[in-house]
Amino acid sequence: MGLKGKKIILGVTGSIAAYKSAFLTRLLIKAGAEVQIIMSASAFDFITPLTLATLSKRPVLSQFQNDNTGVWTNHVELGLWADLFLVAPISANTLSKFANGICDNLLSATYLSARCPVMIAPAMDLDMYQHPSVQSNIQKLKSFGNILLDAESGELASGLSGQGRMMEPENILSKVEDFFSSREDFSGKKVLITMGPTQEALDPVRYISNHSSGKMGLALANAFLARGAEVFVVSGPIYLTVNKAGVHWNDVTSAKEMYEAASEIHSQVDICVFAAAVADYAPSEVAPEKIKKDNTSLSISLVKNVDIAAELGARKKQGQIHVGFALETENEAENAKIKLSKKNLDLVVLNSMKESGAGFQVDTNKVHIFHSSGLSVQSEVAPKNQIADLILDQIKNIPVWV
Ligand code: PMT
Repeated sequence: MGLKGKKIILGVTGSIAAYKSAFLTRLLIKAGAEVQIIMSASAFDFITPLTLATLSKRPVLSQFQNDNTGVWTNHVELGLWADLFLVAPISANTLSKFANGICDNLLSATYLSARCPVMIAPAMDLDMYQHPSVQSNIQKLKSFGNILLDAESGELASGLSGQGRMMEPENILSKVEDFFSSREDFSGKKVLITMGPTQEALDPVRYISNHSSGKMGLALANAFLARGAEVFVVSGPIYLTVNKAGVHWNDVTSAKEMYEAASEIHSQVDICVFAAAVADYAPSEVAPEKIKKDNTSLSISLVKNVDIAAELGARKKQGQIHVGFALETENEAENAKIKLSKKNLDLVVLNSMKESGAGFQVDTNKVHIFHSSGLSVQSEVAPKNQIADLILDQIKNIPVWV
């Protein structure tokens, strides 16, 4: 049962190959997966929802609103539920919608909401498949990190012969099984992640903080979870909707609290990732009452906060892996490498405030990862969940990784 417990959304669109989705559904179910089918309107011309509902043992979804009950089908929840979003077959029309962010049905809305990896299996006639529009949509979707299950060559419904046949269901199944098995590469590993900002109180009303949203840390937590790790999170105050299921989650406010929580956990984990934007300084004293606005100016004395990564770096045990971040605005690589050694890190992930699409708040990041061994890897701007997977892949390149 290679897919036991895996939740897969299977999108079916308007292609003659849609009949193969019935075989594919049966194979996925037999392999132990839970399969939720979403059909595009034109898929109904090629296969009945009854067939797919029977095989998947779940009602087939297609509209935002369920005709009989008027209940809204929540594409966001679907997107969060799935471990994998597989569209097989994907028609030229749906390829174009996905590539250009068109959102005019439940399938395309769920695609845009999905946080899980996406696999697409095109199926169309060979001239359509070779058309530059289709090919550029496919390349664009690959550049977003979607996984292409490329069309196979052979006899096509039109009687022509060439590339355009949907990958055979058995081959799709093995691609899906390979995908999940390669993604259990952190099973048995315990991981601590610090994430989000810290808030350093000035008085009962005011605090000093920064712009960290927690998105990078959350992407890392999801990536480690998806790849089999046991995840411990210590998070500063963030305002994202978080699915904390399966995560040992600790909410903290100040750097001191983050340090105390992280210290508690540190000795029991194999990997630490310090993604938090920890305030380097805190007010030397917290006013017991709200500071009055009597004077025209107010000066505050600040004291240095504990450097969590450095403190725990000094306690790093043989076999433990520490990954830090460097958020820089100048001399980026040099400053990142200084942190790499000063904090006894194995990897430092540099993100520069000068790069658009990188750093605080945004859904993407652009990183330059430096290994203590001297190796370094750069990324383009990419969604933070892909950057997280890249960081995990780099952790596996650390010599102590056994
Ligand atoms: O949360 P997002 O909105 O998604 O933004 C992501 C991010 C920009 C916050 C993230 O990618 C990032 O860069 N996090 C580290 C930010 C930071 O504090 O960088 P730094 O260069 O100041 O710190 C260097 C390293 O030491 C970091 O691993 C940091 O977690 C750690 N540190 C720093 C200070 C301190 N007192 N304790 C620490 O542990």
